[in-house]
Amino acid sequence: VNTLKIAFFDSGIGGLTVLHQARKILPDEDYLFYADTAHVPYGEKSKEEVRAFVLEAADFIASQSVKALVVACNTATSIAIEELRRTYAFPIIGIEPAVKPAVQVSTRKRRKVLVLATELTLKEAKFHHLVERIDHDEIVDSLPLPGLVRFAERFVFDPEQVIPYLKKAASGLNLSEYGTVVLGCTHFPLFKDSIRQIFPEDTDIIDGSIGTSNHLRHQLAERGEIGGGAGAITFYRSGIAVADPQLLSHYHDIFKRLDDLY
Ligand code: SIN
Repeated sequence: VNTLKIAFFDSGIGGLTVLHQARKILPDEDYLFYADTAHVPYGEKSKEEVRAFVLEAADFIASQSVKALVVACNTATSIAIEELRRTYAFPIIGIEPAVKPAVQVSTRKRRKVLVLATELTLKEAKFHHLVERIDHDEIVDSLPLPGLVRFAERFVFDPEQVIPYLKKAASGLNLSEYGTVVLGCTHFPLFKDSIRQIFPEDTDIIDGSIGTSNHLRHQLAERGEIGGGAGAITFYRSGIAVADPQLLSHYHDIFKRLDDLY
């Protein structure tokens, strides 16, 4: 019997948005969810700091009998994914802003694309190379939204608090120009309701969790490693197993919220 888990890693609770999607297509798996809450937010730290945090977390995760690791954090992926792949033998799946599908679907009148992410993701060479490869018509703009990571980590999702923050952060942009918005941070799908409200109604809002989950399934299928679990999730916060019922119930609420939003 294969009892190896699929590990999901994020700086905080954002990775739950990817895990939520992965469980839909891979229900017969057991999961380990690791949030590096001692160091969140990553997006406002230096590249060197984030690299050290990710390597430390991955080292712990690798000691836990896992068959794959999903780096469900755009910032961590942009800083450390190649190094992780060089270090471990199991598949390492990352997530990056869904710029390519955004540019492909963006064929309507409002062709412009806005990528929302952390400052560090937007600053990194990986993001610039991605945009250079795809954005031949220069239709892609970006906007850092660090406040959303902070809200999420405090379990604050109230549109009355979130929308004024979004409006202020985006005050320099003409939001009606964008036909597609990319959620380039795994925390952001938790705010889809509020984000939707500041853009015209027909704006497409996309994220990378479907692509990442499909990629995970593909990698496991190729290795003949799908199945063997029962949908259980074990939660860790920076190397410590979560037993606090209040925290576990918060995680449960996040899944319920995602069921409603997606
Ligand atoms: C953060 O910790 O700042 C969020 C990281 C991310 O999902 O990109």
